[in-house]
Amino acid sequence: MPSLESRLQAELAQFKQDGVYKRLLYLDSPQAPRVRMEGRGEVIVLSSNNYLGLCDEPELIAAGKKALDRYGIGTASVRFICGTFTVHRALETACARLVGTAQALSFVSCWNANEAVPGTLLGEDDIVISDQLNHASIIDGIRLAKAITRCQTAVYRHADLDDLREKLVAAKDRRLRMVVTDGVFSMEGAIAKLPDLVEICRRHDAVLVVDDSHATGVLGKTGRGTAEHFGMLGEIDIITSTLGKALGGAAGGFVAASEAVCDYLTQRARPQLFSNALPPTVAATALASIEFLERHPERVAQLRASTAYFRDQLLSRGFKPLPGETPIVPVIVGETAKAIQMSNLLLDEGVFVTGFGFPVVPQGQARIRCQISATHTREDLDQALHAITTVGRRLGLV
Ligand SMILES: Cc1ncc(COP(=O)(O)O)c(C=O)c1O
Repeated sequence: MPSLESRLQAELAQFKQDGVYKRLLYLDSPQAPRVRMEGRGEVIVLSSNNYLGLCDEPELIAAGKKALDRYGIGTASVRFICGTFTVHRALETACARLVGTAQALSFVSCWNANEAVPGTLLGEDDIVISDQLNHASIIDGIRLAKAITRCQTAVYRHADLDDLREKLVAAKDRRLRMVVTDGVFSMEGAIAKLPDLVEICRRHDAVLVVDDSHATGVLGKTGRGTAEHFGMLGEIDIITSTLGKALGGAAGGFVAASEAVCDYLTQRARPQLFSNALPPTVAATALASIEFLERHPERVAQLRASTAYFRDQLLSRGFKPLPGETPIVPVIVGETAKAIQMSNLLLDEGVFVTGFGFPVVPQGQARIRCQISATHTREDLDQALHAITTVGRRLGLV
């Protein structure tokens, strides 16, 4: 395949020239506020979705080991063909309980869950209307649904309720209207306007789907997500979320919804029908993470307190983080090259923060995105803030 090789090599060289080539950084210890990074030694991590600090929680690790002994490695086929482990049922019950729905169905990733929902539940007479800043998995899930089902698709301007209303009115003759939004938008840390969205969807007889990947374990007094944050548990029609962030951080995702939706997905969702289930070790650690969260709401409170401290400190040092209350704290630096330079300089100072530029975020709004964990100590945060200030001054940001 000489032409493919040479084209890829040319494009890879261009990525390097444009400064957008991603180099993987290897860790030699569990994900945690401080990790051992190959070639760097100990660094403070401010770029993980380990919001509750559960990635190295001994209780979860023990649950995974126990599951390995009890269930072995896996079933060696898909669930409906060769059996499904009892731990998956227990996990799905716990997911539904956590987010406040009748039932849940697990997937090997939230990417797969987001692919399953529109592609399985929509048909030719239906429409799905998506927030402009939704996660890539929602976007690709919708593209796939359009190809598979020939459903109609539309995009409303980010968080623009008037635009959404207009699109819903225009779609009034469709058999079904589905509206999809992130609960927390990962590049901004902004929270979806759930009360308005629920009201609008009810008024226009639309089904609301919320991807709560950055909200599960994070938002609400006890970490039950965007619905709990707004006192609206039980009012979202369909929730998708990940097990790969706050809930242990291994992998996996789920759809939480009514019994009929989950049963229908069990019957028809292709990522479920034609792909193996989560490994039982992962199902067990995710289950243990939900049980841990239910017993330790103080973790969520700690996350909130540490986030508030970090934001206040950034402001008092002259930075202008995007306002918000989630543990995603983006600091706008301008051009993409500057965000990448800042991220590199911070790593030299022993702080791991990723820089994001165009096209992931709008042109001129490149940023470093700091993410707080409940297990960051005050010392971790102060050391990181000191490094951010030092580098920020060097780059003329403050
Ligand atoms: C909003 C959102 N949805 C879905 C996903 C995909 O989750 P998973 O890693 O479980 O596939 C992510 C991961 O980055 C995300 O941020």
